[in-house]
Amino acid sequence: MSSNKEEIENFDKYAHEWWNKRGPYKLLHNLTPVRVKYIKEYTDFKNKKILDIGCGGGLLSEVMAEAGGDVTGIDASRETIKIAKNHAKEKKLKIDYKKNTLEEFIKTNKKKYDFVICFEMIEHVSNQDDLIKNLLKVCKKDSKVFFSTINRNILSFIFAKIIAEYVLHLVPKNTHTYEKFIKPSELNTLLENNGFKTIDITGVKFNPLSQSFKLSSFTEINYFLTAELNKREN
Ligand SMILES: C[S@@+](CC[C@H](N)C(=O)[O-])C[C@H]1O[C@@H](n2cnc3c(N)ncnc32)[C@H](O)[C@@H]1O
Repeated sequence: MSSNKEEIENFDKYAHEWWNKRGPYKLLHNLTPVRVKYIKEYTDFKNKKILDIGCGGGLLSEVMAEAGGDVTGIDASRETIKIAKNHAKEKKLKIDYKKNTLEEFIKTNKKKYDFVICFEMIEHVSNQDDLIKNLLKVCKKDSKVFFSTINRNILSFIFAKIIAEYVLHLVPKNTHTYEKFIKPSELNTLLENNGFKTIDITGVKFNPLSQSFKLSSFTEINYFLTAELNKREN
């Protein structure tokens, strides 16, 4: 079981805030242009089959659908998916949202996706290895999987946990559990053990004054990682 009950209850509680640009998800709103820039190195989204796992309120799903992507968004939080569905309907966007974890989704899903996105979600699941194993079932030979998450070290503890949650209140308290932060090398090992290979790791730098982000070689706090199937094994 990869989902964590307390984490999902916390996401249910703040679901109504997803589209409030000044609310608890402000930083994710600010991060979205950088995420789009990162993924656009690989695709323009047009007519691509994309699975957004842990899609939240749909901040990224909507951008990809607007650009012509055929987007499916899944999330374990019932309240979050309701908000995502309503918002897409208001914007007249066709996005297939489902209240599912990945392990629930693969029980009935037969589709394979060109691009699979796991943004800011692997640090919220109980069993990260199960998540990666299940990714195999939605990938085809040339799929790309994108992660963005938080490194685990003293700097990320101070900035992503203490300062963000308790000092500047940039995200709600208890959003993150330090032990679930994952080093790029650990994520790389999990991926390698499950038949994937890492093709890129890029850091993200946060400017606390403008509260904006930019891509960087600095991976000590937030980072992106892109993987594909290891063709030697598959
Ligand atoms: C920090 S939010 C990120 C949302 C979105 N990916 C984004 O970056 O804008 C994490 C999301 O992952 C969802 N989530 C956590 N564990 C999950 C799981 N096991 N399966 C599916 N969704 C999960 C939460 O409900 C929440 O909406």
